[in-house]
Amino acid sequence: MAFNFFLFLGLFLTLSSFALASDPMPLQDFCVADANAAVLVNGVACKDPKMVQAKDFSFSGLHLLGNTSNAVGSKVTPVNVAQIPGLNTLGISLARIDYAPWGINPPHTHPRASEILTVVKGSLEVGFITSNPENRLIKKVLKKGDVFVFPVNLIHFQRNVGTGNAVAIAALSSQNPGVITTANAVFGSTPSIPSDILAKAFKLDTKVIDYLQTKF
Ligand SMILES: *[C@@H]1O[C@H](CO)[C@@H](O)[C@H](O)[C@H]1NC(C)=O
Repeated sequence: MAFNFFLFLGLFLTLSSFALASDPMPLQDFCVADANAAVLVNGVACKDPKMVQAKDFSFSGLHLLGNTSNAVGSKVTPVNVAQIPGLNTLGISLARIDYAPWGINPPHTHPRASEILTVVKGSLEVGFITSNPENRLIKKVLKKGDVFVFPVNLIHFQRNVGTGNAVAIAALSSQNPGVITTANAVFGSTPSIPSDILAKAFKLDTKVIDYLQTKF
């Protein structure tokens, strides 16, 4: 009896912690973000539902090629609550990612979302790294139509390994997934992390760290 109770309690706590870890379930049909609201809440305050229109739930332009003329050779076109106010409180969003040949989407994490990605053009090498102590790289080459999952918070990346441009569509489990680009956060913060800290962390000379910091 006691055993069953603790088993139940454990299961309950496990399930409830998962529930709390995602965007909350809405308490009404929708809560279209009111960009002009002065009140700060977790998410954005709702527009008067009577004033809501179809355009609050729509976005156009995901057919357009992203401009990949940059240092990493990729471009993310986000479609989250900033583009579609109707996504507020719903816990989902979308992105298109364009890749030049050998372009990368550099190692990054989404602090608030898991991601499911499908390749609609070309071929991508994708991967994520598990947490300490294993730090295992789980990696695969995807072709058109293949789907891959990046679990919430884990560092992940993509690289175009095809001969032409590549395109992927990614869905994310937050209206506002957020992005932490690993290299930018570590070497490009404002103000910078003291270089002796990074020198110890990366087992490098502080001169190398100083040089890396000039790159961001
Ligand atoms: C793409 O971006 C580059 C670099 O910012 C810019 O020079 C170029 O004009 C852009 N191309 C188009 C088609 O917008």
